[in-house]
Amino acid sequence: MSLETKPQNSAGSIIAITCLLSMGYAVLRYHVMGPVPWKDLPFFIINKGIALGAFILLTFNFGFGPLKNLGVNVPSGWLNARKALGMTGFLLVLIHALISFLLFNPAVYEKFFLENGTLTLLAGLSMLGGVLSFVVLWGYNLSFQTHLREDQAFIRFITSRRFLLFAMLLGATHLFFMGYQGWMNPAGWHGGLPPISLVGFVFFAVGYIINVFGRK
Ligand code: HEM
Repeated sequence: MSLETKPQNSAGSIIAITCLLSMGYAVLRYHVMGPVPWKDLPFFIINKGIALGAFILLTFNFGFGPLKNLGVNVPSGWLNARKALGMTGFLLVLIHALISFLLFNPAVYEKFFLENGTLTLLAGLSMLGGVLSFVVLWGYNLSFQTHLREDQAFIRFITSRRFLLFAMLLGATHLFFMGYQGWMNPAGWHGGLPPISLVGFVFFAVGYIINVFGRK
């Protein structure tokens, strides 16, 4: 019998709890407190829950290491979970992007479009941030899985402090331009609950500060 103990890994519980809370928040804010009809649950609302869950898991993935560097006692099960959190976050973002492509029209996202059917400036900036952040995440994941791994200079670049801080800013751009007008109007928040883009942005802001000070 082997005496070796398996390293602790909390990925399963972190992913399950994050996804449940994100989905629950989307349902509570838009269906229970808000006016969105239940028929929109399977695609429109689930897309919001998936996007939030992805954003939080990616923040955890990038944040746990630097948090430990700052002297916080991060459990080893959380540190060992980082790879699975990053991969799951990326797959959820992929689902979010596919659903968003299918839904993207003025009837669903009125606030993103002008009357002539073209995008507003803010929607254009937000979507540019989303697409660039998606491509950067894709590159980041690829770099750990293919022959690129042997390219030391590339790996050093894509895992460097400067590049990761830049990549996080792209995700924040996506949320900021999409949502900041609504963030400043708490009277319009369904049931007083902040918009999902703002919840995501708060996670980003905390994660970013931890990275600025804790990433080597
Ligand atoms: C091809 C790339 C992407 C496209 C086309 C896209 C598209 C969209 C759209 C259309 C929305 C509005 C959803 C809604 O209000 O119902 C949205 C929201 C959101 N996206 Fe993305 N996105 C992309 C990439 C990303 C990435 C990479 C992340 C995470 C790092 C992300 C996270 C979010 C979050 C958290 C929201 C807020 C949801 C809400 O406020 O309802 N997106 N995205």
